[in-house]
Formats: sequence, structure tokens, C-alpha cells
Amino acid sequence: MNTANFGNWSKWGLSLYVLSLSALTSAQAPQPQPGMPQANTHLTRLENLGQRLFTDRNLSEPVGTACVSCHTANTGFANNHGSRIGVALGSTPSSFGLRNAMSNAYNGFIPKFSFQISNGEVEAIGGHFWDGRADTLAAQALGPFLASAEMNNPNAAAVVKKVAASPYADLMRAEFGNNVFQDSDSAYQKIGTAIAAFELTPSFQSFSSKYDAFIQGKTTLTPNENRGMMLFMDTKKANCVSCHVMNPKSKDPKDSLFSEFSFYATGIPRNRAIAQNANPNFFDLGLCGPVRSKPALTANVPVNISIDDFCGKFRMPSLRNVAERQAFMHNGFFKDLREVVGFYATVSSDPQRWYGPAGVPNDLPMAYLKNIVKDRPPFNRPRSAGPVLSPVEVDDIVAFLHTLSDGYTAAPPLPQNPGPQPNQAPNVRPANPFGPK
Ligand code: HEC
Ligand code: HEC
Repeated sequence: MNTANFGNWSKWGLSLYVLSLSALTSAQAPQPQPGMPQANTHLTRLENLGQRLFTDRNLSEPVGTACVSCHTANTGFANNHGSRIGVALGSTPSSFGLRNAMSNAYNGFIPKFSFQISNGEVEAIGGHFWDGRADTLAAQALGPFLASAEMNNPNAAAVVKKVAASPYADLMRAEFGNNVFQDSDSAYQKIGTAIAAFELTPSFQSFSSKYDAFIQGKTTLTPNENRGMMLFMDTKKANCVSCHVMNPKSKDPKDSLFSEFSFYATGIPRNRAIAQNANPNFFDLGLCGPVRSKPALTANVPVNISIDDFCGKFRMPSLRNVAERQAFMHNGFFKDLREVVGFYATVSSDPQRWYGPAGVPNDLPMAYLKNIVKDRPPFNRPRSAGPVLSPVEVDDIVAFLHTLSDGYTAAPPLPQNPGPQPNQAPNVRPANPFGPK
């Protein structure tokens, strides 16, 4: 990740990001970007403070890594800081983490972690991180500063000291009082509050994708995108919609968050590039730890429920902006969206393709294989029935997933269509600049 890439934030109307990075102390108004949604031209003082904190590369040890290093709009609000192995690189050389960065967009819609009864089954839902361990965005924001594989500060006081010496220290004082830096524990909490306020601004939940324009009747999908949507919603086959919920009949984009934020084990293959995975006995069990230790699941599991039933389960992310991401799933095993959809299409018919000769999911201990979802398509498909989707259908779903990228600007209406001409290809307009490549 280098500074040059930040120019791309302007695609999302996030000209304020560019401003803050290129001229931290400048009070100059952001320049409107031609043809771009002006999502966030006004920030409150608290949100502005949050933005300064979010983009400040001095808040890591050594300096150089900010929240924005791993949460960049033009890579789906998530990237791994230059790492190509599927998991994020922190502020020190070779400090690779255990997990793929998650998007911090649309996080305002994630409920607090809880257990719910759904179809007679106890299901875990909500919370931030792949294992739902942070209840609020403010609490989440305080984790990365101290994580050794992320921003690597020794303690909260060290972060507060840097903020107190920053050019925006006065913004902290104006917002929280002149004595804000005296108690570093409470100042640290306030840093979380400000970052959360910024993450909840419209730029992070802009609902400005082609799909959003489509459900509001402002554009049409191409035949491929439309077929992809139908396949995505086909409850007898791909059945993506049963988890990644959407409703194209509703004009309200909040009815299409593309996640119900619940937890499943889906048998993602083991990413052998992760250092910890060199130990064959090491497993990232999601809800069961080892990362999720505070609060451990034991603290809130309902009576009569075995914690073992939740081992290997990870929280389903929203698929908004997913096509812009560089790696997919909690362990970053997949680097190509086509491969992800191909996995869903063939995991039942051709498990060897994903897990090697044994054909048995290889990133979970035997005892927890029973936790892998089997109660619905595409996971309950008999092996003999063949792939759920043909290669062409996989491409159609990928085309549809590209319509979920924010920053879509509808093309101006075409000149009067003269109708089909002999020997002429259908008129395809270059609608989505971030669409299928
Ligand atoms: C070195 C890369 C890196 C940095 C720096 C970083 N993050 Fe993250 N972020 C990640 C990873 C990896 C995850 C998933 C971690 C997990 O599940 O344990 C994540 C998860 C998140 C989530 C949860 C999203 C969800 O859907 O639950 C939010 C919100 C977030 N980060 C915000 C921030 C903020 C705020 C900062 C700065 C204080 C920050 N991140 C710094 C890599 C990073
Ligand atoms: C049983 C629920 C379920 C179904 C059905 C389902 N998914 Fe998922 N999806 C998940 C979960 C859970 C994850 C995260 C898994 C993990 O990382 O361990 C996920 C992750 C993804 C991701 C990666 C997101 C990211 O940010 O890394 C994509 C893309 C995706 N699903 C697409 C699809 C498509 C396309 C279909 C239909 C073919 C589908 N899903 C069907 C539950 C489901």
C-alpha cells in the first residue's frame, strides 16, 4: 500500500481522505470530483477527529501503518497492507497476522453478538471481527492499535501520548475537554468513540452501487448480471440468498445487506501460507478461539448448549464491495472471486479439488467436521449430482457480485435506440466503471 493509491478514494466521494493525507493541517475545502457522489462533504467535529485518527500513520510502532492502510475504499474497504498471502501485514516487517482483513463498511448494521433460535437451532449472530468478539465499533477500534501484527503499540498510554503530540490534539481537547489527555485510559476510550463516529458516516455505508441504482429503478442489469442475480437467489441450487440476504423487490437497500451476520463453518480450505499453520495441530476455530479469548464463548453460551457446536464458525461478511477485495474468507485462502464462487459450485461434487486426495475439509480438527453446514443447498448436494453451477453460471454470479461495488454512476441515457440492426452486436453500455474487468 503506498500513498499514491489514496487518490482512488475520491472515486467514492471521499475527497476528505485525500485532503487529510496530503495536507493534514490545511483547512481547504475538498474539491468536488466530477461525476462522483458527494457522499461526505460535511463531517461533525467528532467525525473529523475520527477521520484524523483513522488515517494517522504515526499511531503505529514503528510509524507508517494507519487503520486506512488495511481498510482502503478502492479495495473493498479492506486490504492486507501489501501482503499477498491472504492475511494482513502489520507495521513491523514480516509481522503477518492470522486473518484476512475485513471490510469496515456497512458495519453500522452489524448487531451486537448474541445467540438466537432459528428453525429450532441455536445460532450465533453479530459482533465485529470474523469471530464476533467486539460488540461495538468503538470497542473494535481499540484492538488494532495494540495488536502486535497490526499497529504494535505497547499499551494504550503509548497511543494516547502520540495523539496528544499530534497536530489534531486540539480537536481532542475541543471535543472531550482540556483535561482529556490526563487519564490515558479514558482518553483511549474516546479515541475509539471518535473512530466509530467516523466509520458510521455515509461514506462507509453509501449504498451507491449499481445494484442500489437497479432496485430503485434507475438502471437495468446486463443479461449476465441479471442471470447471476437469479442464480444467486435460486434457493434450490446456489442458494446464496439463504445466508447473504437480499431483496431486489424492496427499494430500500437496507433490505439487501447481503449478510445476516450469523456464523457458519463452511469448510474453507486451509491456507498453508499462514505461519501458524505450519503446526498441523494449530487451527483457527473462530468462535471457539484461540483469537477469541476475551470474551471467550464460555462466558455467554446458553445452558444446554455445547461450545463445541460453534467451533470452526466464522461471521458471514456483507458482500457489498466484495468484488474489489484482493483476498476472500477469514483465512484469505482465495485470491480470486471466480474461485470463491467455483468453490461453492463444486465443494460437494469434487471435494478433492479443494482438500487434496482425502477430500475431507482440512482446516478443522476431525471432531468439528460435523459443524460444517449441510442442511441446505449448495452444501447438501449429493456428490453424484455434479457441480451446482456450470463455469458460465459461475461467471454470471461473479458479474452480479460486481454490481455490489459502491461508486456507480449511471451512464447518461443512450440516444434513441433504433432497434436491433442486422449483424450488429447488442448495444452494451459501459455502465459500471468498477464492473467486471
Ligand atoms: C494490519 C492491518 C490492519 C490494520 C492496521 C487495521 N485493521 Fe481492521 N482489520 C484487520 C483484520 C485482519 C481484521 C479481521 C481481524 C479478526 O477477525 O481477528 C480487521 C477487522 C476490522 C473490523 C471488523 C469488521 C467487521 O465486519 O466486523 C473493523 C471495524 C476494523 N478492522 C477497523 C479498524 C480500525 C478502526 C483500525 C485502526 C484503529 C484498523 N481496523 C486497523 C486488519 C487491520
Ligand atoms: C450457509 C450460509 C452461506 C451460504 C449458503 C453462502 N455463503 Fe458465502 N459466506 C458464508 C460465510 C459464513 C462466509 C465467511 C466464511 C469464512 O470466512 O469462514 C461467506 C463468505 C463469502 C464470500 C467472501 C466474503 C469476504 O469478504 O471474504 C463470498 C464472495 C461469498 N460468501 C459468496 C457466496 C456465494 C456466491 C454464495 C452462493 C453460491 C454463497 N456465498 C453462499 C455463508 C454462506
